[in-house]
Amino acid sequence: AEAERAQMRKATDLAAKLYHHVLVATPYGEKARQYLAKRDVSPEAIKEFQLGYAPASFQFLLSFLKRRGFQEELLEKAGLLSTRQEAGVTKYYDRFRDRIMFPILDSQGRVIAFGGRLLGDGRPKYLNSPETPIFSKGNHLFNLHRARSHIRKEQQAILFEGYMDVISAWQAGIPGCVATLGTSLTDDQARVLKRNVETVILCYDSDQAGQNAAARALELLRKQECTVKVAQMPLGLDPDDYIRRFGGTAFKEEVLSAALSLTAFKLESLKRNYNLQDEDERMKYLVEAVAAVAELPLVIEQDHYLRRLAEEFGLSLDALKEDLRRAKKRKK
Ligand code: GTP
Ligand code: MN
Ligand code: MN
Ligand code: MN
Ligand code: MN
Repeated sequence: AEAERAQMRKATDLAAKLYHHVLVATPYGEKARQYLAKRDVSPEAIKEFQLGYAPASFQFLLSFLKRRGFQEELLEKAGLLSTRQEAGVTKYYDRFRDRIMFPILDSQGRVIAFGGRLLGDGRPKYLNSPETPIFSKGNHLFNLHRARSHIRKEQQAILFEGYMDVISAWQAGIPGCVATLGTSLTDDQARVLKRNVETVILCYDSDQAGQNAAARALELLRKQECTVKVAQMPLGLDPDDYIRRFGGTAFKEEVLSAALSLTAFKLESLKRNYNLQDEDERMKYLVEAVAAVAELPLVIEQDHYLRRLAEEFGLSLDALKEDLRRAKKRKK
């Protein structure tokens, strides 16, 4: 019921405040402070994002919230505690231990869940809150509350895979960024984006997993009739890595400004299937590329991409146009 959800929000909010306090103002937070400093996360970002640290204890949050009158059962339902059975008795303990805590806010700016990162290697690297009465992963986007006014004004949002990408971009003076919550983009999240902006720049990790996820996100955003652009990064880097290595200005100028249109992205992806040094393969690529261009709804778009292909491969535009005409005819 609503009263119960209100209690859960209150407990989650208190947990965020406690974790943040531990991180910034206690000796227990020292290791986490060093970890964040090593990753160039500034004190301002720690404050803005209410980052925290959950100590390596099974009873820390539990005893704090119990003292404040919260029931263990409710805290478990809110995703703050876990349980195990001991001789038929349910035992409760802190779900998040020895992790950097990333609060997840709802559209009204209330803390409703957490992502928690280990300070070192190990699994799972990130542990998120489970689905709870106040949190469903598929409906929320990390940082939307903070980014909303910016992305509405710009009519453009940048979509990342990770919390750290959002925080790095924020530090670099790029506030209009959101991220999914450890899952691939959902229909609901695509709808939320469409409600706020016209254009989404997808900026996923440049590994295979990231590229596959980008391809899926692309389809969902197209279904919502968003304009989608795809930003590309050098192999092996994610946006956070890129910004730390090359700086925010380079990120804006070399990555965001150079984001590919949907069609250009498809043509680039197609290219990877062919060895363009080989004449036969180059022709096969061009046949596929022209077929992809033939799918475009507007003639001016078709013309634009044909010109680019003509230029790139030193071909006559007339020849490409003729092949386009034939490709369309074959389709009918
Ligand atoms: P860093 O290593 O801290 O820079 O993280 P990252 O944001 O670069 O993470 P990565 O690219 O590996 O994954 C992107 C996002 O997927 C993360 O921000 C998490 O939301 C999520 N994720 C990553 N690893 C896990 C995991 O082990 N479990 C879950 N549930 N989510 C994960
Ligand atoms: Mn702002
Ligand atoms: Mn990745
Ligand atoms: Mn990453
Ligand atoms: Mn990363």
